[in-house]
Amino acid sequence: MISASAPGKIILFGEHAVVYGRPAIAVPVHEVQSKATISALKESNGGLIFVEAPNIQLSSWMVDLEEDQPLRKAIQQTLEALDIEDFSAFQLRVNSTIPMASGMGSSAAISVAIIRAIALYFGQTLPRELISRIAFEVEKLHHGTPSGIDNTVVAYERPVFFRRGEDPQIITPGEPMIFLIADTGAPAQTVQVVNEVRERWISNESYYEAIFDQISELTILAKRAIASGQIPVIGPLMNQNQVLLEALGVSSPEIRKLVKSAQEAGALGVKLSGAGGGGNVISLIEPSFETAVSNALVEAGAISIISTKVTP
Ligand code: PMV
Repeated sequence: MISASAPGKIILFGEHAVVYGRPAIAVPVHEVQSKATISALKESNGGLIFVEAPNIQLSSWMVDLEEDQPLRKAIQQTLEALDIEDFSAFQLRVNSTIPMASGMGSSAAISVAIIRAIALYFGQTLPRELISRIAFEVEKLHHGTPSGIDNTVVAYERPVFFRRGEDPQIITPGEPMIFLIADTGAPAQTVQVVNEVRERWISNESYYEAIFDQISELTILAKRAIASGQIPVIGPLMNQNQVLLEALGVSSPEIRKLVKSAQEAGALGVKLSGAGGGGNVISLIEPSFETAVSNALVEAGAISIISTKVTP
């Protein structure tokens, strides 16, 4: 039996703008994981690969899944990349502690865990670039037109500065950064929110392009501040990014409430992370403020809080 896993992620800067060619920064969140476990099956009465994913109540032979079912796609694309056609039956079990529909990259992490597990099972390792590319193909089934940032940060497992069509740049933080990830309890509807932004962009391109440019400037400044460990500079940039996300219309009353409460409790910077509309609010904090900010977030309606440390 072999297992492989992949972390969750948060976007620190640049969501939405990244869909329009601007850069974004994301970091892995190792406190939550997707895990894929493969064990050989003695009998293959029905197929060759039996897939179990209790989180989504799935228990089926792969061949009985729809052609474009994301797990099936991840498995098939990996077998193709490994050039494996003949093999004995096996079971693939997928578990995940990454909250779904919360902007934490659960779909990308599940794909990456599956790809790694299958490669390992057949005694091979695939380069991160290829793992990311396969996961990107699967992401398209979930999101329609993903930028590719989720599969990239999850496959590289390092803070990344990402721009569509370019190789990702790994950022090594100059100082550790602590984030509290607070769940609003409302699902983040990535496809819907991305489509709404696109409709608004079509009807008022210059306004939205100007916002994307401002987000881009913040993201470039943030990259430098993160790399040089200037924590006090990063917080205000996050707050400014949140103002611009408000202007894009992707915030919500729940998000606003959490942002305000964390800022008042002493967080250095607070913003939504991911598509918005719901999902998570992230707060950059000094260690001594962890309890105060965490309590304030819960008081303001957060249904769960994950604390994560991004280390150099
Ligand atoms: O909700 P998430 O974490 O999948 O993030 C979506 C991020 C967007 O920039 C809004 C879309 C994208 O594909 O990058």
